Amino acid sequence: MLTSKKSWFNLPDTVTYLNGAYMSPQLKSVEQVGIDSLKRKNLPYEISAADFFHPKEILKKRFAELIGAPDHRNIAIIPSASYGLANVANNIPLKKGDEILIIDEQFPSNVYIWKKVALKQGASIKTIRPSKLLDNRGESWNEALLQAINSKTAVVAMPHVHWADGTRFDLEKIRSKTNEVQALLVIDGTQSVGALPFSIEEIRPDALICAGYKWLLGPYSLGLAYYSDFFNTGQPIEENWINRLQSEDFSRLTHFQDAYQKKAERYSVGESSNFILVPMLTRAIEQLLEWKTANIQDYCEEISRPAIEALRAKGHFIEADAFRAKHLFGIYLNKQIDRETVKQRLIEKNIYVSYRGAAIRISPNVYNSTADFDKLLSCF
Ligand SMILES: Cc1ncc(COP(=O)(O)O)c(C=O)c1O
Repeated sequence: MLTSKKSWFNLPDTVTYLNGAYMSPQLKSVEQVGIDSLKRKNLPYEISAADFFHPKEILKKRFAELIGAPDHRNIAIIPSASYGLANVANNIPLKKGDEILIIDEQFPSNVYIWKKVALKQGASIKTIRPSKLLDNRGESWNEALLQAINSKTAVVAMPHVHWADGTRFDLEKIRSKTNEVQALLVIDGTQSVGALPFSIEEIRPDALICAGYKWLLGPYSLGLAYYSDFFNTGQPIEENWINRLQSEDFSRLTHFQDAYQKKAERYSVGESSNFILVPMLTRAIEQLLEWKTANIQDYCEEISRPAIEALRAKGHFIEADAFRAKHLFGIYLNKQIDRETVKQRLIEKNIYVSYRGAAIRISPNVYNSTADFDKLLSCF
């Protein structure tokens, strides 16, 4: 079992930060790598041609290890989840009558692009909504999604864990249903990968897209995408020189190449060698590999359990444990307490959480402790 890692971060003691789903605090080690990397450009002649390639490869290898992907060449470097998802959506042939399934109130970066391609190609979006009743909400929501997947389904584009309240979707079952009808499965892992175990080998999604600044503990503006071999011959949303074959040879860049680098590299964003952010995200993922995501999940469960039981006993709704993440969950208040009152108390005590839809979103990580949850509980 992990112990608190608060001293590995720079969070002040006066603050209770339960908002990793908004943005993670920065590891001291990642900060240091960032400062060192920033300074490198003072001496540009020390940045070699190999530095454009090698650090990216290390980052892809680390991420591949984190997500259990057998080949790091299926990974691309992206600036945002929306960018990674646009590469996916633009490379899926759709026909009139096809359906794209999404989850209710899904994060917009995984909605707008589907609306756009659906409109262009005559497909339609089907939104799977939860039951209005809170009892068995997660279970019945999963069930509703499974039932909605049918021969018209071309794509299911969804998260592993809902960003607003942590509802967890059973990707294994969803994958087998999508396989039955030959639909693609596209996962936005931004709110789960890094804190919740995920395995490409087990789930076999067609794509997995992750922004890096939340559970990957990385800097803002750098993320990672896994594209399965289905996308190996697709068209990227931009044409950058480094993604073309033999770009390693800087003296021959104008011997223009029709071919791309292998597998998913065609989808990496321009200037993906990013000499500051790439080493930072690499360091963050190396730390996660050392801690292990299963341990992070267990740690979050352990520190939050007493408070969750107490909140439920007071009549607030928190999703059943089997259908929610442990690093991200929503509190739906009972009718006796007013949300503004709770909000005010949280502000007074310097407790940071988020308000998403009807839920108060709580998202702990290894820098939190049971004491943070005691404080939280005192506000309800
Ligand atoms: C589920 C999810 N996906 C993606 C993002 C970020 O999207 P983007 O990188 O496109 O800004 C967020 C941010 O809150 C999110 O919660």
